[in-house]
Amino acid sequence: MEGVRKGEDAKIYIDGKEYLLPTVIGTEDELGIDIRRLRSESGAITLDPGYANTGSCISSITYINGEEGILRYRGYPIEQLAEKAEFLEVCYLLIYGKLPDQREYNYFVDKVTRHSLLHEDMKNFFAGFPNTAHPMCVLAAMVASLAAYYPDEKNDLELMDLNIVRLLAKVPTIAAFAYKKSIGQPFVYPRNDLSYTQNFLHMMFAVPAEEYKVPPLFNKALNILLILHADHEQNCSTSTVRMVGSSMANLFASIAAGICALWGPLHGGANQRVIEMLQMIYEDKGDVAKYVAMAKDKRNNFRLMGFGHRVYKNYDPRARILKSLADELLPELGYDDPLLEIAKHLEEVALKDEYFLERKLYPNVDFYSGIIYRAIGIPTNMFTVMFALGRLPGWIAHWRELRLDPSMRIHRPRQIYSGPSKRDYIPFTERG
Ligand code: ACO
Repeated sequence: MEGVRKGEDAKIYIDGKEYLLPTVIGTEDELGIDIRRLRSESGAITLDPGYANTGSCISSITYINGEEGILRYRGYPIEQLAEKAEFLEVCYLLIYGKLPDQREYNYFVDKVTRHSLLHEDMKNFFAGFPNTAHPMCVLAAMVASLAAYYPDEKNDLELMDLNIVRLLAKVPTIAAFAYKKSIGQPFVYPRNDLSYTQNFLHMMFAVPAEEYKVPPLFNKALNILLILHADHEQNCSTSTVRMVGSSMANLFASIAAGICALWGPLHGGANQRVIEMLQMIYEDKGDVAKYVAMAKDKRNNFRLMGFGHRVYKNYDPRARILKSLADELLPELGYDDPLLEIAKHLEEVALKDEYFLERKLYPNVDFYSGIIYRAIGIPTNMFTVMFALGRLPGWIAHWRELRLDPSMRIHRPRQIYSGPSKRDYIPFTERG
């Protein structure tokens, strides 16, 4: 496979017998032992609950070095993309592997802009949800429902590209409609004269009664937030998209599954939990030390939300960008958020604490993102939806990479069974 070279064979001994396993080395010198032949040759499988040591694929989309705090999309450092790129440019880059030239970009933007309307019948679906429904549940259901309107791609590459455009175009509309439904306001239709991010903010905050102009700072902040969330290689939701996609499920079904995986508080749901935690600390007289102590106490299941990461054992580069964005943005907006001070204080205390240092627990992307979302008026229960909006191109890129891989096999891990050995069925009357 392109970009990957062979390393020296690894040796493994099982019951005194030696097995040779090939190794692969990635572009950035990451080493992997290819165990595909292990079971057929030795009868043994590898055991790795939580997959912390398992490479599920070879991918050319995103590179992360968690020890050094590096994140690159298709080779481009996240810091440069966050500073210079437009979100739709990054979508193109992730999905198609290269930065678009001006003509490709204009064509792509035009297509995404023109597919943002929802089928009118889909509006009826929103009516069926209670106002209290979490917008992530509405988003997942609506994205899966898109499959009812747009046919499967099978091997039709043109149709696959069209469905990719449809999905990128319609998810902001679905997300904004879900919000409007939850607050009892009329849906605001997409506008083709606005950019992707402006259009989303307009659909969220405009009302028919008056004109709404998207504040440029809101737009800038949203563009950066979406770029920072756009991909993160084989995380829980992306692996879910690949898992579902490996059964040849259609794009919409696969992405809806990713949305469900993202919802959990240990993954994308953490950004909502961070703000709830900071609010709780604020209402508790800002007693940061008390919450740091609670997070360290093994008898207490409280964790510092927005802290720690499976891959980053260093400061998450996205959190660094968001911290300085919050510092820059809030004063410019004249928005004095006491939760920003609490967050910074919490970080300072935690990063001096032996418990967090030893375990290499640093702020992750969710730690500061919520503070910026609040500053631009996004309600807390929409934070994870915002994450989904940002992660969409990453999910699509991984789904497409998998679908176009001729060596793709259905994802089907093995297990070590720990249940009872064979026993015979006992009728009710004889059970003790
Ligand atoms: N607060 C307190 N202790 C923590 C935290 C935390 N936020 N995170 C990890 N630890 C501790 C664990 O208790 C464990 O301690 P031990 O070795 O004494 O048992 C050690 O650090 C390692 O933690 P694990 O849970 O084994 O790490 P894992 O890689 O499985 O989990 C995760 C990573 C889920 C992100 C975890 O750090 C966590 O729960 N963080 C809070 C939730 C969060 O912010 N999630 C967002 C992640 S980023 C994203 O998805 C966008």
